[in-house]
Amino acid sequence: SRILVLHGPNLNLLGEREPEVYGRATLADIDAGLVEAAKAAGHALESLQSNAEHVLVERIHAARADGTGFILINPGAFTHTSIALRDALAGVRIPFIELHLSNVHAREPFRRHSYLSDLAVGVICGLGVDSYRLALAAAISRLDAAAA
Ligand code: DQA
Repeated sequence: SRILVLHGPNLNLLGEREPEVYGRATLADIDAGLVEAAKAAGHALESLQSNAEHVLVERIHAARADGTGFILINPGAFTHTSIALRDALAGVRIPFIELHLSNVHAREPFRRHSYLSDLAVGVICGLGVDSYRLALAAAISRLDAAAA
């Protein structure tokens, strides 16, 4: 089934935004790698970046009816603020992994709290682009196990 990747606010600036924290890969680089890896494993992957909370909420709602079996989400700063994203993910009941490029536990204290983590299948942070790759690998292994 389909995998949906959601990128939250400011992730469109990857590559130029605080490269010492977030690395040099652009969002297009990351998405291209994910699409290729998913395809190689026989899965379709679609990604969306938005700086707007409601766009992410509405995309999560739409995932109910478009065959999405798993969501990977880097919620950006909405991680630490958004009850609306939490409620959307809880409402659609599609399993998801929360991921972050940076190690949110090694930064400002306000980044240690997430409104999503306790609902997530798992949480990956601090591994840069590998956070996305590893999250995708875990999603694929869960989807394949469910289909077997
Ligand atoms: C982030 C971590 C968040 O705290 C921050 O607001 C981001 C990116 C990460 O990928 O490391 O925008 O989610």
